[in-house]
Amino acid sequence: MDASIIVPTFNERNNLPVLAQRVFSAAKGAGLDVELIVVDDNSPDGTGDAAEELRKKFGSVKVIHRSGKLGLASAVIEGFREASANILGVIDADLSHSPEMVPDLIRPVREGKADLVFASRYIKGGGEENWPFLRKLTSKGAILLARPLTPVKDCVSGFFFMKKGVIDNVELNARGYKIGLEILVKGKFKRVIEVPYTFVNRKRGKSKLNSSEFANYLITLKNLYAYRLGFR
Ligand code: GDD
Ligand code: MN
Repeated sequence: MDASIIVPTFNERNNLPVLAQRVFSAAKGAGLDVELIVVDDNSPDGTGDAAEELRKKFGSVKVIHRSGKLGLASAVIEGFREASANILGVIDADLSHSPEMVPDLIRPVREGKADLVFASRYIKGGGEENWPFLRKLTSKGAILLARPLTPVKDCVSGFFFMKKGVIDNVELNARGYKIGLEILVKGKFKRVIEVPYTFVNRKRGKSKLNSSEFANYLITLKNLYAYRLGFR
């Protein structure tokens, strides 16, 4: 197994099968053997059942069913625990993150060129498909607040791959969404690189990002600054 890819899901029934199909075919095209680990929070739309169907269809799919909506970061952390490969990655289920880019994020880790690879909207060649002004502003604001913690331009990206060793024995507990940022602060790595991508707006279903997630982000930031300064 070359890589374990965590897919957190909440109400993504119509997206997940497309994502799985595209990830597996991109991996196959690049000669990579990957497994998907779907972590579903008892989605009312039946995403959990859809994931079980995919397990039957593709084989290399694991499904973790949780009791209810416990948050994106904690879903990813649980997924990491079930991973069997030496390279771990995360991708959203809603096709905002191009499945065809997965091999491009795995390659630098496999070739030993990087320990951690972030798909990035904010380097040359990256971007986002016409975002509303407010969402752009929140995204930039979120990044600005984290600037002193990491040189990575798109440090709030939810699309990244790494060597398993980066998080071995690292205590992860981010609230809300920003698990990638927590890994950038606490992870054990030497080289981190960014690969440009364009964030595609979801065609089906709704984003789960809301103001309470922004509050979670502020708490995560506070904890990470305290960690960095040696307070905990
Ligand atoms: N299991 C689980 N539990 N999954 C969740 C939860 C949860 O509580 N909340 C969201 N998800 C899943 C969604 O189903 C989707 O697959 C993925 O996490 C991202 O959720 P979205 O609601 O679509 O997030 P977004 O598009 O607003 O933001 C994404 O892109 C940003 C830019 O890269 C996230 O990846 C952000 O972390 C990222 O900053
Ligand atoms: Mn999304």
